[in-house]
Amino acid sequence: MTRTPQLFRLDASLADETSVSRSVADTFEKVWRLEHPDGIVLRRDLGAAPVPFIDMTAVGAGYVPAADRTPEQRAAVELAETLTDELVSSDAYLFAVPLYNWNNPASVQAWVDRILTAAPLKAGGAEPIAGRHAVVVHSRGGGYGPGTPREGWDHAEPYLRRILEDVWKLDVTMVTAELTLAATVPAMAGLKPLGAASLQAAHTAAEDHARRIAELVAAGDPAVDLTADRAIA
Ligand SMILES: Cc1cc2nc3c(=O)[nH]c(=O)nc-3n(C[C@H](O)[C@H](O)[C@H](O)COP(=O)(O)O)c2cc1C
Repeated sequence: MTRTPQLFRLDASLADETSVSRSVADTFEKVWRLEHPDGIVLRRDLGAAPVPFIDMTAVGAGYVPAADRTPEQRAAVELAETLTDELVSSDAYLFAVPLYNWNNPASVQAWVDRILTAAPLKAGGAEPIAGRHAVVVHSRGGGYGPGTPREGWDHAEPYLRRILEDVWKLDVTMVTAELTLAATVPAMAGLKPLGAASLQAAHTAAEDHARRIAELVAAGDPAVDLTADRAIA
């Protein structure tokens, strides 16, 4: 007996209808659903409902024996376990993350910090999601390509890669839409065609990778065990 695959989707944009990362992630999700009509898409929306910043209660709670934990420590452990379970129970991953002040949104850092307090996904932990496929949809208002004045200023991408690839051992593909502000900021009007081309390329890449990853999962991705019952509904 095999179960239907589960896609985990994280959103972090503070914007809703106007969000580029959400719209490119929607494209990915739509194609994924075509391939897996009965599949589950488990969503965590940090833009709409951020998790609380880490605090000393959360840092220490996991080291206290379960029976001795205060209600606050119990809540902190439960949150870290819930966020971890959402990842561990999933078969593929879609992270939609905008660039804010040359970094990840603080909500993404808070989410990572909480997860890293629980054992399974800590550095040096059991690596329960190693090898599974992930797409990061990254939206940024400016341009950061080679030779541009702000090349190297995007600190979100390297940090995400550090966590997703080096700590959690996911197989990561970046899909970046940049110059997103050219569409609305008058001073960037000359960059509109480049922004539009970047957006179009991001939607196309999202479609291609959604199809590729959905097919890999269906065909028996070695990092995924569809006979193991681990979906969170
Ligand atoms: C708080 C905030 C900070 C931002 N900082 C940057 C930045 O440092 N560099 C940049 O290129 N764009 C920056 N932007 C623009 C966003 O990266 C851009 O609008 C992107 O499309 C946001 O993703 P979204 O469309 O999914 O909301 C910022 C936007 C906001 C709201």
